[in-house]
Amino acid sequence: MNPNLTQFGDHMTRLTGVRAIMKDIIETLRSAGSQEFINLSAGNPVIIPEVEQLWRDCTQELLASDAYGEVVCRYGASQGYEPLIEAVVNDFNQRYGLSLSQQNVLITPGSQALYFLAANAFGGYRQSGELREIVLPLSPDYTGYGGVSLVPEALRAYRPALDLIGDHRFKYRPDFEQLTIGQDTGFVLFSRPCNPTGNVLSAQEVQQIAALAAAQDIPVLVDSAYAPPFPALNFTEMTPVFGENILHCMSLSKAGLPGERLGIAIGPEPLVRVLESFQTNLCIHSSRYGQAIAAQAIASGALAHISETVIRPYYQHKFAVLEQALEAKLPNHLPWRLHQGEGAIFAWMWFPDLPMGDWEFYQALKRSGVIVVPGSSFFPGLQEDWPHRHQCIRISLTASDGEIDQAVGHLASLVAQVYQSAPAVV
Ligand SMILES: Cc1ncc(COP(=O)(O)O)c(C=O)c1O
Repeated sequence: MNPNLTQFGDHMTRLTGVRAIMKDIIETLRSAGSQEFINLSAGNPVIIPEVEQLWRDCTQELLASDAYGEVVCRYGASQGYEPLIEAVVNDFNQRYGLSLSQQNVLITPGSQALYFLAANAFGGYRQSGELREIVLPLSPDYTGYGGVSLVPEALRAYRPALDLIGDHRFKYRPDFEQLTIGQDTGFVLFSRPCNPTGNVLSAQEVQQIAALAAAQDIPVLVDSAYAPPFPALNFTEMTPVFGENILHCMSLSKAGLPGERLGIAIGPEPLVRVLESFQTNLCIHSSRYGQAIAAQAIASGALAHISETVIRPYYQHKFAVLEQALEAKLPNHLPWRLHQGEGAIFAWMWFPDLPMGDWEFYQALKRSGVIVVPGSSFFPGLQEDWPHRHQCIRISLTASDGEIDQAVGHLASLVAQVYQSAPAVV
């Protein structure tokens, strides 16, 4: 059968952005035969034994408790499992001196679902026919934002300003000269720390964005999938920013529970209510088994503790290994740049004046046995053409130290080879 799709059906089934590349990667790995690849493309977190053990212990506790039947054999509230909401409220009030109540929290089946709810509740066409844009203030950002709106023209990303640091480092900053948050804006969205770049917007930058939006009564969603207190994948000092128009959005995926699909939104009650109603229509509620084990791990403090003492050092070490290998192996006279590693589980590289496109570069690197993700998939909503978007790659920090070192060796050879035809000076 050939299903006859609606506009929404057509848009939602299209293989866009990183999904198209993931398909290519899966096919490459499947048909690899005897060729071995170092796969630096994964978005999946590493299974860290201590983290797996935490979830195993919480599961055993749940299995042994009287709550088990109530958790898995019954429906619950759309807003979320009450003990989890209570654990989040208590943890955040204590940790950040807030005065949250239960009405400020919503649990969703993963944070991707949360952005889908928000994208279609606050972005898109109004009753009056006007388009309300979903503003991404700093491009590149999370590729998954590319698919969240049923109205693709609603997505609007802004080019960043670039700080060039030394010969081989750089950092993106929001360009407030260009960024427009006005009556056409439905809401603002960005990740902090950022997937793919590892960038962390400063508190002052977040407050500046929030103030621009507050002036128009516009919500700001801060995607905190890598932020403290869990998974605490920040390698630089950062504190979550809260405010009257800020929805702080979290995920338990990088804290070891991607399979359980758990997202948490914390913010003003009116925003939480809208998303909760949308969620009831979509899926009723998130899985209660995942919510119950998360409630224990948050209430006991174990999740925040393991995040700081195990998860963060694990990835921070990987970034250091990559950085050292790049310094040692990439030709110093060529114009490569690594984004400042401030968090998340990725490294982001820019090759100024790259004499080929990022997709071609990805294919060439694949031929030498290394798989990364071409950077152009990470500019959803950027309408203008910008050569920079075809000059970057994302490297996952999920491989072993030895594999990272070996992969950088292959990368170094390729970089030397591709710039040979068009030598550039730092
Ligand atoms: C920045 C960012 N936001 C959101 C998500 C979606 O996470 P989940 O739906 O698993 O909570 C991811 C996943 O990798 C991400 O990197």
